[in-house]
Amino acid sequence: MMLKIGVPKEIKPMEGRVSLVPSAVAEIVHKGGLVYVEKGAGEQSGFDDQQYRKAGATVVDSADALFAAAEMIVKVKEPIADDLKRLRPDHLLFCFLHLAANKALLEALKKLGLLAIAFETVESKGSLPLLMPMSEVAGRVAIQSAVHWLHASMGGRGILLGGATATERGQVTVLGAGTAGTFAIKEAAAMGANITVFDLNPDALRRVRELGPNITGLYSSQGDIERVLKTTDLLIGAVLVPGAAAPKLVTRDMVKGMPEGSVIVDIAIDQGGCVETIRPTDYHQPTYVEEGVVHMGVTNLPGAVPRTSSEALSAAILPYVVQLAQGKLSSSPALKAGINVENGKVVHPALISSA
Ligand SMILES: NC(=O)c1ccc[n+]([C@@H]2O[C@H](COP(=O)([O-])OP(=O)(O)OC[C@H]3O[C@@H](n4cnc5c(N)ncnc54)[C@H](O)[C@@H]3O)[C@@H](O)[C@H]2O)c1
Repeated sequence: MMLKIGVPKEIKPMEGRVSLVPSAVAEIVHKGGLVYVEKGAGEQSGFDDQQYRKAGATVVDSADALFAAAEMIVKVKEPIADDLKRLRPDHLLFCFLHLAANKALLEALKKLGLLAIAFETVESKGSLPLLMPMSEVAGRVAIQSAVHWLHASMGGRGILLGGATATERGQVTVLGAGTAGTFAIKEAAAMGANITVFDLNPDALRRVRELGPNITGLYSSQGDIERVLKTTDLLIGAVLVPGAAAPKLVTRDMVKGMPEGSVIVDIAIDQGGCVETIRPTDYHQPTYVEEGVVHMGVTNLPGAVPRTSSEALSAAILPYVVQLAQGKLSSSPALKAGINVENGKVVHPALISSA
């Protein structure tokens, strides 16, 4: 008997992604699963209730009915107050959690006593297969958004990232040459910007250097980051220590030293951010100015492109959703690595050590 799966409508502001698209639901139903989908859950991603019904889902009218019927809740973003009211100790929760940056949620999940598995810490062969698709999207969205914030009309420096004839090219600095960093680098490089990337991993630095002649990879030392930031138009934060709070690599003084009107997009904000002056924002009010620098700390960057993001996320999580619903958690090292909270206790080693 498979666990009954529930797909709620996301309620975080401006979050239009859905965890499972109709084609993924059809796969689960084909394997004998039962899927409940909240009315309108896929609407902003371009999937209507009728498509879910055709795929074999039961569409329910309210979040209350959805949480009541399901044994396993598969959503995109971490639960917020109204979700928490509906979660039960016997629920299995599978979604992004980012608990290192959200102690209040960590305590709430411990108190509930349920089993919480975080997409971002599911680990297979040294990689993070459920974070990867969203990091790919976030890296691209970060550059696409920053191009706009660099416009003078938006409070930016008034430059084109690629420059123009008889002008300097824009200077982009990227902290972290993993998935999000690499996709940001590719997008900025394609526009013609000059890019400096910092990482601790020499293999990652070698890989990004080979992406193009306008990309320089440097070892992540504070002195070099400070020096490069003085001429940086756009800073992208994309570091990660899995499960742990992001290391703070950029101090307020270093931000003060950046050119007036330059832009920071800290993708790592979901793990607390790697810049001292960054704080979480959402798409209602994505930016603020501090020390003369435009800051963007949107915690759900892929939410800007829910159609693309939902399809990419749904494809990545589908095999894991099936394993969980079939009760195969204990035989999956990848899923076991994803357990953050169980029976009222914090389980993930990085969360325990950062507590
Ligand atoms: N804001 C959003 O909407 C959003 C969306 C997707 C991902 N993210 C976040 O983006 C961040 C990056 O994710 P990823 O998938 O690219 O991770 P990743 O593991 O692929 O890459 C992280 C990189 O950071 C490097 N790193 C670690 N410590 C460093 C340091 N001190 N200096 C320089 N580099 C360092 C690692 O070596 C690695 O190459 C994560 O926090 C992730 O949760 C945010």
